[in-house]
Amino acid sequence: MTAPHKILVVFGTRPEAIKLFPVVAALKADPRFTAVVCVSAQHRGMLDQVLDIAGIVPDHDLDLMKPDQSLDALTAALLLGLGRVMDEVQPARVMVQGDTATAMTGALAAYYRKIPVDHVEAGLRSGNIYHPWPEEVNRKIIGQIASLHFAPTDVSAKALTDERVDPGRVHVTGNTVIDALHWVTARIAAEPALAAGLSEIEARFAGKRIIGVTSHRRENFGGGLESIAEAVRQIAARPDVAVVFPVHPNPNVRKVMDAALAGLPNVALIEPLDYPNFARLIGLAEVMLTDSGGVQEEAPALGKPVLVMRETTERPEGVTAGTAKLVGTDSRTIVTEMFNLLDDKAAYENMARAHNPFGDGHSAQRIVELLGNEIRR
Ligand code: UD1
Ligand code: UDP
Repeated sequence: MTAPHKILVVFGTRPEAIKLFPVVAALKADPRFTAVVCVSAQHRGMLDQVLDIAGIVPDHDLDLMKPDQSLDALTAALLLGLGRVMDEVQPARVMVQGDTATAMTGALAAYYRKIPVDHVEAGLRSGNIYHPWPEEVNRKIIGQIASLHFAPTDVSAKALTDERVDPGRVHVTGNTVIDALHWVTARIAAEPALAAGLSEIEARFAGKRIIGVTSHRRENFGGGLESIAEAVRQIAARPDVAVVFPVHPNPNVRKVMDAALAGLPNVALIEPLDYPNFARLIGLAEVMLTDSGGVQEEAPALGKPVLVMRETTERPEGVTAGTAKLVGTDSRTIVTEMFNLLDDKAAYENMARAHNPFGDGHSAQRIVELLGNEIRR
């Protein structure tokens, strides 16, 4: 019997960890592979929250997050650190997910060593290199390097073949976020205490209509975030509404949100929630208001309308299905769209149809099977 293929799985932020833990589990369950996990810890606390719930103990941890890290310092540290781990581990293949600095440098460091790269959540494109920034360019770089492209949907697969990626290397697998969501929902059903972290807030806001908010995008720093904060302030001024807002720890986000929203009676500005409690928040919310990528996928899957505070999205599937709407970052537009949804029952019902264009919850297994085919070639 041949030795198992060593797959180095590289990630560093909360959303990568959420979307890769199902793949790590599937790789570990398959005797054809040895999964070696390397975390850059580009995020620290928010990454550790996911590692804890998923029960992953990394084999390598670069622990390189710095407060308010710049893109160039982060990128340089990642490239050197990940390269060193690759030299030590000597993997057969490297797996990255999405479009973060960790994913891009992981792919680049592997390419410099001529190690094939497998890209999970390949082919997302907004068509604008500054929205989202710098993710659009990160994923295009990975797309140039990758050996296997695991596209979540037909739309993302077509974006790759339109860029002349060999169609034989592109596979539609669904998005592993749906695997993660199914897993966490089952965990909560078996152990409700896992998602009891919001009980105080639920009691405080009993009888109110909950709006869940997240915001962290770099391209919105400054004026964009201030405008978002103003929109949240106006929404929370409605007596029938309460806003629950787990605030991203980036100081550029914190200072704006604290200055505009701290102490308002209908706003709970809270620390980032762990994954079970965030899934619970989506469940409690009437509407999600977000600039997040992952939340655009999860809210439709849970039948919750999502207003997306971006000018453009690389995830048009939710918009096409009618469960997501782009509202940009202008406070007037955000407030108008939110009030429309809250006050027009038909408009709400139209968006609240559970619809999940992103996968069937078996994406991780599909990815591992495709990797199995690849190593047989
Ligand atoms: C990163 C990704 C972005 C992804 C997002 C998910 C890049 C360039 N950006 O953006 O694509 O959508 O993660 O959240 O890869 N911080 C903490 N604790 C944490 C995490 C962050 O304190 O657990 C603070 C630190 O001050 C850190 C800052 O947030 O320097 C920014 O983190 P960084 O990963 O550079 O950027 P994000 O905006 O989180
Ligand atoms: N999330 C979480 N706790 C929170 C906010 C978000 O667990 O307080 C999860 C959410 O369910 C989704 C992911 O984090 O799976 C999205 O991460 P983020 O918005 O930071 O990044 P993006 O998806 O925009 O890259």
